[in-house]
Amino acid sequence: MDAQTIDGIIERHPQDPSSIIQVLLDIQNELYYLPKDVLEYVSKRLGVPMSRSYHLATFYKAFSLKPKGKYPIAVCTGTACHVQGAMKIYDQISRELHITEGERTADNRFSIESVRCLGCCGLAPVVTVGKNLHGKIPVAKVNKILQQYK
Ligand code: FES
Repeated sequence: MDAQTIDGIIERHPQDPSSIIQVLLDIQNELYYLPKDVLEYVSKRLGVPMSRSYHLATFYKAFSLKPKGKYPIAVCTGTACHVQGAMKIYDQISRELHITEGERTADNRFSIESVRCLGCCGLAPVVTVGKNLHGKIPVAKVNKILQQYK
């Protein structure tokens, strides 16, 4: 994202520190993460200390400092999901998308990470894709689920 695009996002909001969260959300929605140099630039433009911006970027789950896809995939590898074959699901997704832990696809559509217990163990094995939760997934259905996300 070039500086002109970032300036455009900043200018959609009041030019003061109170806009920081909304500006960061807009950038997150465009890039699917917050690059360090962009965070520094926005902090400077809005007069927010970098330590505060960094705190916000790491505190809220809506933000990521690592590149993510438009549809971040989280494969639960907690105990209940592990027992129900979470790693086979993970491997299938990884094979299908040609990405592994922390990576994102070349088209920026997906990224993958493993997580510990999403709090719905009764639905094991559980995978989230973007904001959607998929439970009791058979390995054979993984590709069909991924195809839902364009
Ligand atoms: S272990 Fe996967 S949801 Fe709890």
